[in-house]
Amino acid sequence: MGRLKVGVLISGRGSNMAALAEACAAPDFPAEIALVLSDIPGAGGLATACGRGLATAMVDRKAYGSKAEFEAAMDAALRAAGVELICLAGFMRVLSADFVGRWHDRILNIHPSLLPAFPGLDTHARALAAGVKLAGCTVHIVRPVVDDGPILVQAAVPVLDGDDAASLAARILVEEHRCYPLALRWVAEGRVRIENGRVRIDGVDAAAGALRNPL
Ligand code: GRF
Repeated sequence: MGRLKVGVLISGRGSNMAALAEACAAPDFPAEIALVLSDIPGAGGLATACGRGLATAMVDRKAYGSKAEFEAAMDAALRAAGVELICLAGFMRVLSADFVGRWHDRILNIHPSLLPAFPGLDTHARALAAGVKLAGCTVHIVRPVVDDGPILVQAAVPVLDGDDAASLAARILVEEHRCYPLALRWVAEGRVRIENGRVRIDGVDAAAGALRNPL
């Protein structure tokens, strides 16, 4: 069977895109990146993708009169590249229900919180303000509501005394770069089943222990 063709949507530095590309560079990885698409002309991730020899596209929202036209242009670029699965990786636009419906169960997203806590923007600052002791990241299947949808994998990290949003974000980002390739592998291997809105991953065991903070 061929490798699953992935389109990665970015708006910024693209470190998660790079983590996915690194995973896909292994010959036995079951997915490959067919296109890196940015909605922002100067996105740092575009240069990173070019440097890795990946195909890139720029679909500038400002070049289109409506969201529907913008999304149609993205859709066309993705389909022209043969994309079968979309990975949102710091893509800062909300996709319409229409677009999400056309790619039903074929869009993944990564968010730097333990969803359903702290969806949306300023995630790390809100987690700190709430005083949570554990923070983390979530890879999920995209539904029309922002940062909602069946959860594939989560990783938790401790919140430390003296953390600010930047230090917490950096600790979580390390886990993001581990979680996203794992989730992509399981999807590409066809192990993922969605039952009543919950994900089951065939042949993958639950983590054995608890993470507690403070001890
Ligand atoms: C990540 O924290 C991701 O979880 C969030 O936006 C950030 C993007 O970072 N959705 P990068 O562009 O992948 O470096």
